[in-house]
Amino acid sequence: MSAKKKIQPVIACGDKTILPEGAKMIPLIIMGKEHMIPETLTVMKAIEYTGHQYTRGCGCRGGICGACGFFYRFEGDYKLKTGLACQTVAEPNMIITQLPFFPMKRTSFDIENLHATPDELIRMHYPEVFKCVGCGTCTRTCPMEIDVMGYVAAMKQGNIKKAAEKSFDCILCGLCASRCPAQISQPTAALMARRLSAKMLTPKAEHLESRAEEVKSGKYEGMLSDLTKMDEESLKELYLEREREPDLAKAGEWMPEDKSRL
Ligand code: SF4
Ligand code: SF4
Ligand code: FES
Repeated sequence: MSAKKKIQPVIACGDKTILPEGAKMIPLIIMGKEHMIPETLTVMKAIEYTGHQYTRGCGCRGGICGACGFFYRFEGDYKLKTGLACQTVAEPNMIITQLPFFPMKRTSFDIENLHATPDELIRMHYPEVFKCVGCGTCTRTCPMEIDVMGYVAAMKQGNIKKAAEKSFDCILCGLCASRCPAQISQPTAALMARRLSAKMLTPKAEHLESRAEEVKSGKYEGMLSDLTKMDEESLKELYLEREREPDLAKAGEWMPEDKSRL
């Protein structure tokens, strides 16, 4: 009788999963069905390991795009938890489901024709922020550890710059909005706050504007054309010989000796 053939688990699509030597198998309950997966995988890779293929709910795989929010509970624990599937390592007996999309409130406004102050505009478009009951569920839910309740409070106080700053790391995963008892769409309100803050409350970067004007005027066309004509070796040489700002130079104090390309 021939020796039993060792069956290798199928590695699903996406990033190739390299299993650690002697990885222990742990149970994971995905949408109600138990699967055994090797420990150390992220929830996203664990889902793929079980043969599921992502057609939505997955983007950057790096904790940036907000596409992979998920909910989980541990067997026997009443607490409902949240995370990003691409960032959270699977643990034994997690019961998980994904939140690939959550309907958030969207409004439209013309950023070039604003006829009110930023706090008035937030009040007009998102009056429901005043329904916040201060429960803090949103802050506890956020996988980016953002003080969501704090930025909603800043909106209520009319401090749109503060709301913009506090919400800056939001990746719009929608997890906070999905749990808000006041049905507030915190991420889209915060997005509006950041846009208004950039347009109306932040001083213009004059140096950036003047550099953009120089680019438009064609100042760098000749230099660019010279570069495109160079061979690879000459380009490498130019790159290696370039003047570089010292790592510890004080901000704004260093200037290259050759200013012809500025
Ligand atoms: S979950 Fe909603 S009601 Fe609770 S603190 Fe956050 S915004 Fe306010
Ligand atoms: S504030 Fe809300 S939408 Fe933004 S990252 Fe946190 S949970 Fe996700
Ligand atoms: S896939 Fe982009 S945050 Fe997880």
